[in-house]
Amino acid sequence: MSRVEISKIEYAIETDVLRLVETIISKHGCNRSKLIPILQDIQNELKYLPRKVLEVVSSKLGVPISDIISVASFYHQFRLEPVGEYVFQVCFGTACYLRGASNVYEALKLATSKVSITVEKARCFGCCSLAPVVMVISTRTGEKYIHGRLNTNDARKIALKYSATIRK
Ligand code: FES
Repeated sequence: MSRVEISKIEYAIETDVLRLVETIISKHGCNRSKLIPILQDIQNELKYLPRKVLEVVSSKLGVPISDIISVASFYHQFRLEPVGEYVFQVCFGTACYLRGASNVYEALKLATSKVSITVEKARCFGCCSLAPVVMVISTRTGEKYIHGRLNTNDARKIALKYSATIRK
């Protein structure tokens, strides 16, 4: 990518975000082997990996954007879309799946469709005796809460409880 193209990308993202990305890259070193820790740090700060930011990382590390998107898509930990104030992770591990995780997931999706809550599927959290399990993560504070032995009614109550705490 030419210097002019890089400048155009850099201009398209806010200066403070660009500074943040540059700080993170210089902390790890401008090296493609550091791609994952760089993406982790960016996501910790921005809560997801915006396409424009990935283009900057691509130009700085000399890694094609398609490779970066592949890495970010492969690892479950990375998000390519913005998230809400809370992320509801519904475990789809075997125990949870067999005890109705799909119904809980659908109930949460419906109950949160108009609020800033992201509902997604997740792998086993290691507390299978509580199946089906939902982990609620506050994207503002990073706090995590486990809710277990849920049915669809419980799921709707949880959605209401956390929706009520979201700032309007
Ligand atoms: S299968 Fe859901 S917590 Fe293990």
